[in-house]
Amino acid sequence: MLKRLLFAVVLIAGASQPALAEQGDPENGRWLARTCHGCHGIPFHQNVYPTYSVPLIAGQSYGYLVSALQAYQSGERRHPTMQAQSATLSEQDIRDISAFLAQQREEQP
Ligand code: HEC
Repeated sequence: MLKRLLFAVVLIAGASQPALAEQGDPENGRWLARTCHGCHGIPFHQNVYPTYSVPLIAGQSYGYLVSALQAYQSGERRHPTMQAQSATLSEQDIRDISAFLAQQREEQP
């Protein structure tokens, strides 16, 4: 909780410190995550398919998202769709996307 608060403060301050690069760049993540919206139905995206059930990823914790994507990529977690989705992501892409998605919690009502 405190960690998230500190992270938010760093983001608001707009400081680009090395720590932030390690955490991932949410602005770059916003761009990279555009392909995820169709299925995961992130709140600001309108194109949700009601008959398609997928987990909510917006607002999940940063660490959880990173490890989930890494697990799909390595094949440790098996799911054809998500293994295909994560296959082309670099380590930095995963960090950036996760930083962006984790940030969505604050923007939800
Ligand atoms: C074609 C539809 C589709 C697209 C596109 C898609 N996903 Fe998924 N995603 C799914 C489904 C279905 C699951 C549930 C898989 C499972 O049961 O393991 C899932 C699961 C996940 C999970 C695990 C969530 C949890 O609660 O454990 C994460 C994280 C995730 N997706 C991130 C992403 C990201 C990031 C992108 C964009 C790069 C993306 N997904 C694109 C369909 C999609």
